[in-house]
Amino acid sequence: MTTEPLFDSAEFRQVCGHFPTGVTAVTATAAGGAVAALTVNSFTSVSLSPAKVLFCVATSSSSFKVLVAADRIAIHILGQDQEDIARRFATSGLSGAEKLSGVSWAPGPDGVPLLPGTPAILAGVRDEVITSGDHVIVLVDVDHVHLKPTKVPALSFYRGRFVAPTGPTE
Ligand SMILES: Cc1cc2nc3c(=O)[nH]c(=O)nc-3n(C[C@H](O)[C@H](O)[C@H](O)COP(=O)(O)O)c2cc1C
Repeated sequence: MTTEPLFDSAEFRQVCGHFPTGVTAVTATAAGGAVAALTVNSFTSVSLSPAKVLFCVATSSSSFKVLVAADRIAIHILGQDQEDIARRFATSGLSGAEKLSGVSWAPGPDGVPLLPGTPAILAGVRDEVITSGDHVIVLVDVDHVHLKPTKVPALSFYRGRFVAPTGPTE
């Protein structure tokens, strides 16, 4: 049995925002050439063998329909010098193609857009999509990974803002 919450969704969002995260740019392609591009910080790894990751997407987002039907998905873990991409991909009202027209990208396997200059990329095939509340959890079976040797720290998000993260401690 669930009880009525004693907080509203703004407070819930504010509390969750105290958990610092990295920032990813997710791109996806579906049948018929549909493409999605959006900024996501709900990314996490799930399984090492087989390699699986997940992220959550709002059912209200315009990327939702493409993602749940996606053939291939690429997750770009953004560097601090890629904040412009994070802001562009978080702009509501732009289609996936419009978001991509403003950045440099190249087609990867099955045409999924890949963003050069990204410190780390994971790409693969959409697995299960689990509906939960007003979001879906999208699982991805990872079959390609790419690391770019760089000293640029990851872009981070904390308390509703992009923040300068600390670099490696060693
Ligand atoms: C740092 C950051 C992280 C975000 N993470 C998510 C996320 O995990 N899931 C999600 O659905 N939207 C997330 N968003 C919001 C989407 O990027 C934003 O709603 C985007 O405009 C969705 O695009 P669409 O409506 O064109 O699909 C995030 C936005 C920012 C700035």
